[in-house]
Amino acid sequence: MTALPASPWTLDSVPGSFTETDMRVFEWLLSYQARRHTPGDLLEIGVHLGRSAIVLGRHLREGDVFTVCDLFGSPAPGEDNRREVTELSPAPDRDAFEINYLAYHSTLPEVVHGPSASVAFHVKPGSCRFVHLDASHLHAEISADLAAARELLVEGGVVAVDGYRCRRTPGVAAAVWEAFSAGGLRPVCLSPGKFYGTWGDPGPIQDELVAWLAERPDEWTVAEETVAGRRVIRLDRDPADAAAPGQTLPLPEVAPEAAQEAAPDSPQEGTPAPAPVKAPAWTSTRSAKSRRAKGKAGRGKRKKSWRHRLARKLVPNALRRLRRR
Ligand SMILES: C[S@@+](CC[C@H](N)C(=O)[O-])C[C@H]1O[C@@H](n2cnc3c(N)ncnc32)[C@H](O)[C@@H]1O
Repeated sequence: MTALPASPWTLDSVPGSFTETDMRVFEWLLSYQARRHTPGDLLEIGVHLGRSAIVLGRHLREGDVFTVCDLFGSPAPGEDNRREVTELSPAPDRDAFEINYLAYHSTLPEVVHGPSASVAFHVKPGSCRFVHLDASHLHAEISADLAAARELLVEGGVVAVDGYRCRRTPGVAAAVWEAFSAGGLRPVCLSPGKFYGTWGDPGPIQDELVAWLAERPDEWTVAEETVAGRRVIRLDRDPADAAAPGQTLPLPEVAPEAAQEAAPDSPQEGTPAPAPVKAPAWTSTRSAKSRRAKGKAGRGKRKKSWRHRLARKLVPNALRRLRRR
């Protein structure tokens, strides 16, 4: 495990569109995998200046390999991809990524400098427990990246796909739902920005995630539905709990039991998995504080009144924030 900077642990100095919501979903999923002793490495395709890679790097266990891949300004494989990359601001730059990453961790990940297709030459099939796809958002490219992720993941590993419902990236939506309907990809949960899925059984992850979210009704909005016979969990964080634009709330230190337990304890085929340890009970400091200020600390699963819920639906966020001041 690499060294972590002193708390508060925020990403404010690293530009990028990786949101606070997804940061916390990554944290939860990676901690879940650590508690379950899911074996395997980490992979990110599309790192830009390192915002999401830095969060992934917090969850490296002894012996894990973290591989990242990016063009870092080298020519993209096709004309559309080239255009896509030139629109990025600031321009991808390997030195800038490495400087940012090393501000948070003491060693760099394995860096594959090239198109996403080159990852197959560096990462073994069936070796990853978490793959983040955030490189090209074009249909052909993301379809190929999804096919690669399926090969590279361990049984039950998780893939996070960026931009699956962004209005500017319909190709990602098409590729993700194709993989869902014809390729066996199962949703674990959907945030506004990312599709989290697995080619294994999402049931146990979903059960534990839903229980965790239910304990934090002030911070998370959750909805469930069935799509083509599959359970889909939509989640988002309460905007009132979000930090000001350009700022992120501190993330907690990774719980030692989550980060440091190493692969040797991993369940072998045929042996029962060890009992899960309790989930780290972290949440954002701001929401904890605001709950205390409102005299609501420790109120657990109690639901908000129907008046409160109706008001939230009808009153725009900006107005609610003004009212609070
Ligand atoms: C949206 S940014 C990634 C954002 C990053 N995950 C973060 O947290 O800030 C997309 C990145 O993908 C890279 N990229 C685009 N097309 C690629 C391709 N075909 N292969 C590898 N990297 C690619 C770009 O250079 C860029 O750095």
